[in-house]
Amino acid sequence: MEPGTILKSQGILSVRDVHLPNKRVLLRADFNVPLDDTLSITDDSRIRATLPTIELIRKGEARLIVCSHMGRPKGKKSAKYSLEAAGRRLAELLNCEVLMPDDCVGDAAIHLIANQRPNQVILLENLRFHAGEEANSEDFARRLADLCDVFVCDAFGCVHRAHASVSALPRLVPVRAAGLLLEREIEVLTKLVSTPEAPYVALLGGAKVSDKIEVVESLLPLVQGLIIGGAMAYTFLAAQGIDMGKSLVEKDHLGLAKHLLGRCADKNLPVFLPIDHVVVGEIKADAPSAIKANGELGPSDIAVDIGPKTIELFTDVLGGRSSQLAGAPRTVLWNGPMGIFELDAFAAGTMAVARAVAQSTATSVVGGGDSVAAVQKAGVTPMISHTSTGGGASLEFLAGQPMPGITALRGGRR
Ligand code: 3PG
Repeated sequence: MEPGTILKSQGILSVRDVHLPNKRVLLRADFNVPLDDTLSITDDSRIRATLPTIELIRKGEARLIVCSHMGRPKGKKSAKYSLEAAGRRLAELLNCEVLMPDDCVGDAAIHLIANQRPNQVILLENLRFHAGEEANSEDFARRLADLCDVFVCDAFGCVHRAHASVSALPRLVPVRAAGLLLEREIEVLTKLVSTPEAPYVALLGGAKVSDKIEVVESLLPLVQGLIIGGAMAYTFLAAQGIDMGKSLVEKDHLGLAKHLLGRCADKNLPVFLPIDHVVVGEIKADAPSAIKANGELGPSDIAVDIGPKTIELFTDVLGGRSSQLAGAPRTVLWNGPMGIFELDAFAAGTMAVARAVAQSTATSVVGGGDSVAAVQKAGVTPMISHTSTGGGASLEFLAGQPMPGITALRGGRR
């Protein structure tokens, strides 16, 4: 399929289609990058992911103004949530001057933009320093719209938010388009929810069933196999009457887990759950651990990772060695770790599935901050077909929920 086909079918222009020379282009990026205690960036992937769009706009001889949110400052200005570190990193990556007015709207921004030289990039300060951003305020959006001739959205990580810079703003700028990163996210994820190649296996993990209910529901008609790991598996196992000791079980959702398993059984859809676990008495890196099979956990055992037999089971499914699937998976979706992988002692399961997803011959899509961090930790990111930059956004997209930041881009002109 030609790149841009899905975008076009949704009535959305790509930044590649827009006339750029001499235009003031406002690029909504997601530079919500993790910072350490000294406010230094610990992972700049989100900035790098937008570089192709930034480079295309700069080559198009436009004047580039970038805006983003950072963290959740709740409408108040604070150094902790400044985009300054992102600005410095962007300047290094682009090898050019990045100017930062201390407010995203108002006189300083207007003045800098009016005097912007072609080789300079302007990065506006955190949009969420204004309450109007999260309130989707038309007035705040108007002040941003006045700064530009063209609006480009590349902030896939927040298109699920009805916030001013992604929802109200695009409607106020007639020339609006998706950036290259957003375009790729829409193309890959739309294919996953509409025409995935079978066998399609979804591998879900993470802490809570309650976070993933909508995704599981919308995956059921599409997938030929479901692998469930991480703490959310404990609720499914407990729903089958297996004693999970002191492991994280969402007691309020046992009924729901049972219901979902029942629906899978009705459809003859194989569900692969852990058969053994790494268990500890308390969650700390040097706690003594043991491997216990289902049925062997004692009242004080806490499961923190999948065990070796489960690793074998899950990697066999992903590698096409399971008799319960008609051949090797052609599509694999992974969202959510298999255990507390932030601690190396409990990372073996997550690292093993990361490698298995990477080695599979399927089109592999990894979504969610933790799983993306896990593939990075395992050093296999280049072997994944698509790692999504959106955590919440990719989950909501896959669950078929409204995406205000995508809808608002429709109907733009060149
Ligand atoms: C993210 O990190 O998922 C995005 O930047 C959105 O951030 P938010 O969850 O604070 O809206």
